[in-house]
Amino acid sequence: MTTHLKDKVALITGASRGIGRAIALRLAGMGAHIVVNYVRNEDAAKETVADIAKLGVKAFPFQANVGNADEADALVKFTLEKFGTVDILVHSAALGAFKPVHRLKINQWDLSLNTNALAFLVLTQKVLPAMEKQQNGSIIAISSLGSHKYIPNYGAVGISKATLENLIRYLGAELAPKGIHVNGISGGLVETDALKFFPEYETFKKEALLKTPAGRIGQPDDLAKVVAFLVSPDSGWIYGQTIIVDGGLSLY
Ligand SMILES: NC(=O)c1ccc[n+]([C@@H]2O[C@H](COP(=O)([O-])OP(=O)(O)OC[C@H]3O[C@@H](n4cnc5c(N)ncnc54)[C@H](OP(=O)(O)O)[C@@H]3O)[C@@H](O)[C@H]2O)c1
Repeated sequence: MTTHLKDKVALITGASRGIGRAIALRLAGMGAHIVVNYVRNEDAAKETVADIAKLGVKAFPFQANVGNADEADALVKFTLEKFGTVDILVHSAALGAFKPVHRLKINQWDLSLNTNALAFLVLTQKVLPAMEKQQNGSIIAISSLGSHKYIPNYGAVGISKATLENLIRYLGAELAPKGIHVNGISGGLVETDALKFFPEYETFKKEALLKTPAGRIGQPDDLAKVVAFLVSPDSGWIYGQTIIVDGGLSLY
């Protein structure tokens, strides 16, 4: 593993579990210090922090519901207090009701849009002064195929991810002249706790597997490896894109 992130600072939302945790561990393995954001699962956040510390970098847990602008602000302030700057922001946290769109309640709509999309805008605005000052930074959000495909019961999240991908495009263009890279990664089916919320999860997983040319369900590190690429100088000509990482599932 390279160490080109030595002493860089990464703030990762939803890093207690799943894909966010894998991203935290991978960036820590490259030398970055990490703020591990979570909302409820303190034990999992502490476990991630302990695993990161074994890699010889600094890590702190911070509880914040990033869908709430004041809490997102507190998360960025905490990062700046601890490390003095922030070089990388990864928004991996997501939430959403699993039900048909025509039955969504307004509070369920708000929950998805606030957590999955608005939080990305607010966090970006909050890290911006530090990144502008150093004329450098990487901002990445994790999206999913439901942003542009119909997935039963996934509308609340899918619609929020479509907004997220548009935010990535606009911010990608607006922040490029400031030396800040904004990009996204859209995953196919990835083995995490989130899958358990899908109604008939085992059937859903089997069907997805049949349609995945790579012949396996994704693992969190499949996405984390692409985050590592997007924060490296090798991705220097990529701006405002959402890269699909799905074993080929979206080809069907
Ligand atoms: N799994 C998949 O198949 C898949 C596919 C494509 C894209 N994605 C995307 O990948 C990202 C991560 O998904 P995952 O499968 O890793 O999810 P996960 O295993 O369910 O983990 C969700 C993480 O987000 C945190 N979180 C949830 N709501 C939050 C909030 N309001 N504020 C702060 N943190 C919050 C959770 O914290 P607690 O531990 O405290 O609850 C946890 O760390 C999401 O953006 C998801 O849409 C997932």
